[in-house]
Amino acid sequence: MRIPLSFKGQSVFVAGGSSGINLGIATAFAQAGANVAIASRNAERVAQAVDQLRQHGTHIEGYSADVRDAPGIAAALQQARDAIGPFDVLVSGAAGNFLAPALGMSANGFKTVVDIDLNGTFHVLRAGFEHLRRPGASVINISAPQAFNPTKLQAHVCAAKAGVDMLTRVLAMEWGPEGVRVNSIVPGPIGDTEGIRRLAPTPEALQRMTQSVPLQRMGRVEEIADMALFLASQHAAFVTGAIMAVDGGSSLAGGRDYGASL
Ligand code: HXC
Ligand code: NAP
Repeated sequence: MRIPLSFKGQSVFVAGGSSGINLGIATAFAQAGANVAIASRNAERVAQAVDQLRQHGTHIEGYSADVRDAPGIAAALQQARDAIGPFDVLVSGAAGNFLAPALGMSANGFKTVVDIDLNGTFHVLRAGFEHLRRPGASVINISAPQAFNPTKLQAHVCAAKAGVDMLTRVLAMEWGPEGVRVNSIVPGPIGDTEGIRRLAPTPEALQRMTQSVPLQRMGRVEEIADMALFLASQHAAFVTGAIMAVDGGSSLAGGRDYGASL
């Protein structure tokens, strides 16, 4: 059951908020009473997500912007702040992914993912800081298990998300004295998302992935949103620099099993 947290009248910006997990987070904040702005590249997807979010009755805005374009995302953040006020919560979740061995990746292929996931997060946080309601605001970066599990065919994502989690820790230190908390959420495999469609493109791969999760199921978008609500709430007032796995235990599944039996 969802914890009944209220964000009535608060302002939330979600970078990459037009689909999947990030849209789920935007939806949960809107349902909890927050005014929400989202930004992603595709104007049509942004418009659809805005329509969907407006059903919850709060002030919703959407912007077409690419997190790789520092001035472009800074302009979207400024417009959003003008529209919904200083942000109580800033979420950075835009990401790109494809399966490829390192030797199958061009320099631009590697750079593209690092630019979206890591440099994009820096751009969102760097420009977003001045629009945070301080003290009291909270930043949430969306990481991935690849940040700490070395994963074949994922050199770009592993490098980028490890960098995202290190940004979380460094900015928690730099911004703590300003009254701003910075945390990461590490979703495990979440069903019916673009990320899983790319990483487990066949029924067999999906079954193997599900079986690798100690809880033996895919997570749900709402379960990631619940962690975002918690991290942004007063219940997490002393939580900063934390890397919070919401993964059914799948980060444990990389542990070695030597096959010994007693
Ligand atoms: C090798 C590839 C490739 C592939 C693209 N490239 N796909 N290389 N194998 N399958 C290379 C291209 O050839 C090109 O290099 C470079 O990457 C950039 O490609 P573009 O198509 O021009 O980039 P762009 O249009 O900017 O699109 C970015 C993208 C795309 C990442 C490639 O897939 C995208 O927009 N993705 C967003 C949605 C997404 O990925 N969602 C899932 C997030 S899940 P060259 O050298 O040819 O120029 C996630 C973690 C999930 O992040 C974790 C689950 C546990
Ligand atoms: P998704 O639906 O593809 O979400 C990615 C979002 O980012 C989209 O709204 C996309 O919209 C936007 N985006 C991509 N590139 C962008 C850019 N350059 N600038 C601005 N916005 C951009 O994928 P998802 O699976 O829900 O993943 C969401 C987040 O969760 C990602 O950070 C991912 O790494 C993380 N994650 C997912 C899983 C999983 O199981 N799915 C597991 C671990 C972590 P546009 O195309 O309109 O730009």
